Amino acid sequence: MQAQIDQYTSEINAFSPANADELETFRIKFLGTKGIIKDLFEQFKTVGPEEKRTFGKVLNQFKQLAEAKYNELKEQHSAESSTQNAQDLTLPGDDFAVGSRHPLSLVRNEIIDIFKRLGFVVAEGPEIEDDWHNFSALNFPEEHPARDMQDTFFIKKNNGKDDIALRTHTSSVQVRMMEHGKPPFRAIMPGRVYRNEAISARAHCFFHQVEGLYVDENVSFSDLKQTLYHFVQELYGAGTKVRFRPSYFPFTEPSAEMDISCTICGGSGCNMCKHTGWVEILGCGMVDPNVLENCGIDSKKYTGFAFGMGMERIANLKYVIKDLRLFSENDVRFLKQFQTEML
Ligand code: DAH
Repeated sequence: MQAQIDQYTSEINAFSPANADELETFRIKFLGTKGIIKDLFEQFKTVGPEEKRTFGKVLNQFKQLAEAKYNELKEQHSAESSTQNAQDLTLPGDDFAVGSRHPLSLVRNEIIDIFKRLGFVVAEGPEIEDDWHNFSALNFPEEHPARDMQDTFFIKKNNGKDDIALRTHTSSVQVRMMEHGKPPFRAIMPGRVYRNEAISARAHCFFHQVEGLYVDENVSFSDLKQTLYHFVQELYGAGTKVRFRPSYFPFTEPSAEMDISCTICGGSGCNMCKHTGWVEILGCGMVDPNVLENCGIDSKKYTGFAFGMGMERIANLKYVIKDLRLFSENDVRFLKQFQTEML
């Protein structure tokens, strides 16, 4: 029995498993319910009392050796396998979805970039506005039908009159800018606006605009034309034609609407331009002296131009998005068609 134990002891001491399976085989062989140690203890029962004394101790030491070896190897192996997994550079990387920019963000960023190069700064104002900033300061007379042109979501009355509303256009930001600063002003003001319209493919109760304002000494209508002409060449490509049609806005005088040659057919006529070759993209004009005065600016010294455009319209002419609702529904199948930028 002693010889057997000696042989097993050297086997255990020399044991070095290559993997978890070999370790398990070792456990079953020595420590299992039908294993060698169990068997030795069975044999031990049959030896005489003299031998019992010597072998009892030897056998217990041998059992402890086998258990200690097993526990040590097991610990070593699990530590090794976890560091191995953590460091295995050949494992494939985790999959992750790369997002894409929303088409309105793409268009807004492009517009901002073009005007920044001309020295315009970006300004923002609140979406909840009072009557003064949205209408009165912009020369909309009380009870004037022009107020009805913009179906306003009023929120709160003041002294019995509708006062606080969701802004119907970003022109309100012009007022805030001029009230709080000193000329010259050269700014573009992107933002969301709201109108009480039934939602359809062609109308929505909220959409986005970019407002522009340039006020300084000696600013003329030719500055307006050249600035907007340059903007359109940058946005839609050199050779895009522009034309100005007389129009009316309470806050500009004279006022105009600007058309560009159709970006889809190049002017030969298609559905987008209703076969006219031209599409309207913005309203503009010289800032009405009343507006300058309402904002505390000397209209004898300063003149300026302003313009406002709908971002959805600009995006539509770039990407042909026929249904306005797509812009706000966040359908991933729609969104993932646009330029992807790595974060
Ligand atoms: N606020 C106008 C609108 O919502 C757009 C506009 C027209 C803005 C002419 C201007 C402008 O600054 O000069 O329809």
